[in-house]
Parts: sequence; C-alpha cells; structure tokens
Amino acid sequence: MAVNLLLGLQWGDEGKGKIVDVLTSNYDIIARFQGGPNAGHTLIFDGHKHVLHTIPSGIFHENAVNVVGNGVVIDPVIFKKELDNLAKFNLDINAKLLISKKAHLILPTHRLLDAASETAKGKAKIGSTLKGIGPTYMDKTGRNGMRVGDLEMKNWKERYQALTKKHLKMLAFFDVDIQFDLKELETEFFDAIDTLKKLPFIDSEVYLNNAIKQQKTILAEGAQGSLLDIDFGTYPFVTSSTTTAAGACTGLGIAPNKIGEVFGIFKAYTTRVGSGPFPTELFDENGERMAKVGHEFGATTGRPRRCGWLDLVALKYAVQINGVTQLMMMKSDVLSGFTKLKVCTSYKYQGEIINHFPYNIESDNVTPIYTELNGWKEDLTTMTTANTLPKALQEYIKFIEDYVEVPIKIVSVGPDRKQTITRL
Ligand code: GDP
Ligand code: IMO
Ligand code: MG
Repeated sequence: MAVNLLLGLQWGDEGKGKIVDVLTSNYDIIARFQGGPNAGHTLIFDGHKHVLHTIPSGIFHENAVNVVGNGVVIDPVIFKKELDNLAKFNLDINAKLLISKKAHLILPTHRLLDAASETAKGKAKIGSTLKGIGPTYMDKTGRNGMRVGDLEMKNWKERYQALTKKHLKMLAFFDVDIQFDLKELETEFFDAIDTLKKLPFIDSEVYLNNAIKQQKTILAEGAQGSLLDIDFGTYPFVTSSTTTAAGACTGLGIAPNKIGEVFGIFKAYTTRVGSGPFPTELFDENGERMAKVGHEFGATTGRPRRCGWLDLVALKYAVQINGVTQLMMMKSDVLSGFTKLKVCTSYKYQGEIINHFPYNIESDNVTPIYTELNGWKEDLTTMTTANTLPKALQEYIKFIEDYVEVPIKIVSVGPDRKQTITRL
C-alpha cells in the first residue's frame, strides 16, 4: 500500500491540520516527517478548537496510530504541554503515539541560540518562531545533536551537559544580551524528559515499512510550506528542514516508489508570517479584510499574518516540486464579498516577464502581474455540496486548475471539520 503525503504549498498555515483531521478516518497511521514546535496545526470539531505543534493531527481519531518521525525535532517541554492539553480527552496515548528514536531533541540552549541569532541579525532577522528549530537542525547536520534514542543510554546527561556547555560558549560569541536562568530552564526540561520517556520510542522507519507491507494506510503530514523549504523556499527567509515531498522520504525512511497521492493544500489567497519576500502582499483595505475575516494570526506565536492575493506562479512551482496529484483549496469563505479578485499569473522580473519562481525575490525586483476575476457575495460557510458553490467561485477554481494543471478535490468553506466540500 502506498503512503499518501499532505503538504502546504505556500508559506505555511494553509490549513494542513484541518485536512489531516478530515482525512484521518481513511488511514491507519498519521506520521509527521519534519519541523517541530514551530508548527501550529488547528483542528476544530464538536465545538472545540485544538492546536497541535509536534503531535500529528490524527491524534483524536479512535483507531489511528500517530508517529513522530525521525525528521522531526522535539522540544520535550512543548511536547509535555501538548500532552497535558490532551489529558482531558482520555486518549490511550501510549498506544496511539509513537516516537522515532532518531528524532532530534531541542535543548533549552537551542532556543537561546535561536533568540541570540535573531537579535544579532537585527532588521535582517528571519522572523523565526524562536523555538530553537534552526540551531537544532544545525546540530543535526553538524553531527552534534542529541536524539530521542540517546535518552535510553546511561550517559545521556553527560552528553547533554557537554552540548549545553558548547552552546553557552556559542551564546557568549553573539554580541547580544539574552537574559536566561539556565537552572530554571533545565528543571523544566528534565521534568519534561521524564514525561517523554514514558512514551514508546521506536525505530519508526522499520515500523512504517512493516506497516506498508501489511497493507496499512499511511498519511504523512507535512509542516510549514513549500515556500519555507530549506532548498526551494525564499532563502534565507525559510525554515531549516525539507518541507517538500522529498522530506517525507528522508523524514520517515520511506522510499520514493512507496509514495502514492500527494495532496497539496493552499489558501484561496496567500499569507505569510515572519520576514521575507511576498510579491502579492497587500497593504490596503483588501489585505486588512483578508486578515480580519480570516483571523490571520499565527497559531504558534500569535503574530499577525501578512496577507495578499493568490500567487499562481508560486503555486505552480510548489505543485511541480512536490508532484502534487490533488489540490485542496482552503478559506474560500474568506473571499466572499470581494467584488473583484486578483490572481498573480506572471512576474515582471528585472524588466522581463517571467512565469517561473526566480532565484531571488526582493520587493524591488519582482512586480506581480495580475488577472482579474469576478468575486462572489454568497456566504459559503453553510454550503455542503460542490454544485451549490457560486458560479464565480467555480470559475475561480477552474482558472486555478487550468493554470496549475492539477484538480482541486476539496474546497474548504470554514474552519470546522464539517465545513469541507469534496469535488469529484
Ligand atoms: P496549518 O498550520 O496548515 O495546520 O494551519 P493553521 O492551523 O496554522 O492555520 C489555519 C487557520 O485557518 C486555522 O485557524 C484554521 O482553523 C483556519 N481554517 C482552516 N480552514 C479554513 C477555512 O476553510 N475557512 C476559514 N475561515 N478558516 C479555516
Ligand atoms: P505550520 O506547520 C507559518 C516561519 C516563521 C519564520 C520562518 C523560520 O503551522 O504551517 P523557524 O522557527 O522555523 O526557524 O522560522 O518560518 N514558520 C512558519 N510560518 N507556519 C508554520 O508552520 C511555520 N513554521 C515556521 O514564521 O518566518
Ligand atoms: Mg500553522
């Protein structure tokens, strides 16, 4: 049985958590393959809202097993908080949540290094979530990191001390004032490690490949989005992991020929949180309206998200890199009431018209060229079938499908699990 992938195609926050939750009833296993607590995946059902950071979004379904893969970085402190939030739901966590021994650990000093690096960059800062993501992946690729499996070794505390000592030296190297109380941070960290150690640590690549052999159905859940990918995103304003389809292979130990469908999630407009280029960003009442109606505030940091028109040049690029086979368009309801909608169909780049996503996008070298489409007035949030969707929305959908050459199979019309329309 093939593994299906679900990925964000923009700058994150496309609505991945919602769609994983909607699809989980079709799967035996949901597996996160990269990122860490920089992610915030929102699920809304039965009148409750849940935000997950490291735990896969299939956790609320009775039968699904949730795997945190080797490509993920785990902050035990945030992980413990997530588990504490789940306590009231009486889930059988030990049976439903498995952790890869090869996943790397975020230490308190990784967070401090993230803060120091951002402060030192000043105006050029990435706008990181300050969760220690960059420094942890640096230690991973620099072959200095600590892994979940290390916690089963007798000398893990010595290894922790040695790495922390090194980090403290590195912190001193940054010429910035970061206040911290290491004792306090460590008390919280060691307490959280005790909680983490109660969960099953597994060789997740073995587990998943056996599951494939046994014909189990697996959905790999991406975090962030393709435009934040370490290679293909708007570097250096990106995250530190492979957010694209290839990341599912390395982040779970699954071979490329085991991948089946690739579900690409995008918003009907575009948002970005943090710094970096954003060609279709709006600074007018249209952008303000998207932010207000769409409640565009980060699920992890609470920061306001920047908003703009849909960028089809960027979307097509993401579709190609990931090999997307089906699209899911989110937040269509937020666009109700705009008389006209714009979609970016090419860029003016260094004086030339181009249709591809160029090497370096800066606000002064890329100007979006738009096609204008009709808007719709109808409230979509109570609609349940594709044929009731307004004609102008159907034309908007057709325009996108023709441009990116992949069908839109799901149209999301509200944040709730039920506000999801399937198109055949
Ligand atoms: P993720 O990181 O990709 O899982 O997305 P987030 O959870 O960070 O952000 C998506 C936000 O949009 C959340 O607040 C969701 O509840 C909300 N949302 C998802 N789909 C829809 C939709 O179709 N319409 C509206 N209005 N909100 C949605
Ligand atoms: P989900 O999974 C949106 C952004 C940050 C910053 C950049 C680098 O919820 O879609 P990092 O902390 O990774 O070093 O930050 O990436 N970023 C996200 N933006 N959604 C996310 O995750 C993000 N994770 C990181 O804002 O610009
Ligand atoms: Mg999010």
